[in-house]
Amino acid sequence: MTPPHLNDLPIRALTMDDLRLCADLSEDRGWLREEHKWGLLLAAGSGYGVDAPDGKGLAAACVVSRYGGTHAEPELAAIGMVLVADRYARQGLGRRLMTYVCDDVLKGIPLTLHATPYGRPLYEELGFETTGRAEMLRGDFQAADTPGTYGTTRVRPARAEDLPRILRLDAEVFGSDRTHMITRLPAFADQLIVAEDRGGDGTLTGYAAAWPNMDTHVIGPLIAQDTATAQSLVTALAQGTDRPLRTDVDVRHEELLAWLKDRGLDSVAFNAVMTRDIPGLPGDWTRRWAPLTVAAG
Ligand SMILES: CC(C)(COP(=O)(O)OP(=O)(O)OC[C@H]1O[C@@H](n2cnc3c(N)ncnc32)[C@H](O)[C@@H]1OP(=O)(O)O)[C@@H](O)C(=O)NCCC(=O)NCCS
Repeated sequence: MTPPHLNDLPIRALTMDDLRLCADLSEDRGWLREEHKWGLLLAAGSGYGVDAPDGKGLAAACVVSRYGGTHAEPELAAIGMVLVADRYARQGLGRRLMTYVCDDVLKGIPLTLHATPYGRPLYEELGFETTGRAEMLRGDFQAADTPGTYGTTRVRPARAEDLPRILRLDAEVFGSDRTHMITRLPAFADQLIVAEDRGGDGTLTGYAAAWPNMDTHVIGPLIAQDTATAQSLVTALAQGTDRPLRTDVDVRHEELLAWLKDRGLDSVAFNAVMTRDIPGLPGDWTRRWAPLTVAAG
């Protein structure tokens, strides 16, 4: 029997039962396994994939995180973890999976993704435009000459009763409700902290999380009203870990990027922030410093 052509293989929904297969696919492509992240994305979002015709795991996968509106008609959807197994690359599978997700599942819905240079040509063909850039930084944070906090910021661990305020601030800054993602942070992240103004009325001026990804802690989301608040949040998170930090900062936040580099973080890569059916990301970029993960916005 001739094996089915790659273009005839069915695209199916991925569930938490596919976690190991997703991590295997990451590894196949030379990425890290990132099971913790896949777990969040499959639980809070929807995975789509194609089983490999040779029976060895997945040939392709991606995940979609929906925000605001309803599941069928979200206000915004973020696509991530777009991967094709090495042995099936350059045979049209990535295009087919992305066309299905963008033009069938999410037709007419404003879309966003962070693109590597490999993915970008395909996304451009599908109608995505580059509307921003994020710089990926990684390294051991040197706190030596860093004051505990900057400006008038006070930083403390988030408490259960902070969650409604975190959700309100997040929706305002992100531009869409992501309750189903943010309410998972207390379990997903190793640290979740909030910032307030000393002497203020208790209004949150920012919040941030650090979550474990292989041997690093990723800082994201990083939401802050100004540079001093962002610096205070990063400093507090760095104090809570011995691992190298990783974060993906909007390149417009030059002051924070320079400050992070001065403290030992190195530039690893630039990703394009791409959008479709929307001129740019909604919300307030001035208070949005780093995404939860580039795979989910
Ligand atoms: C990017 C990726 C998903 C594309 O999947 P694919 O099945 O290999 O791609 P397709 O065969 O459908 O090709 C679609 C287009 O993508 C582009 N493309 C794919 N692989 C490429 C490569 N190695 N270099 C440059 N462009 C490439 C081309 O424009 C291609 O069109 P063409 O073949 O007509 O020139 C796949 O290469 C991959 O998994 N890469 C590693 C992970 C990654 O970077 N993912 C993107 C995250 S944003």
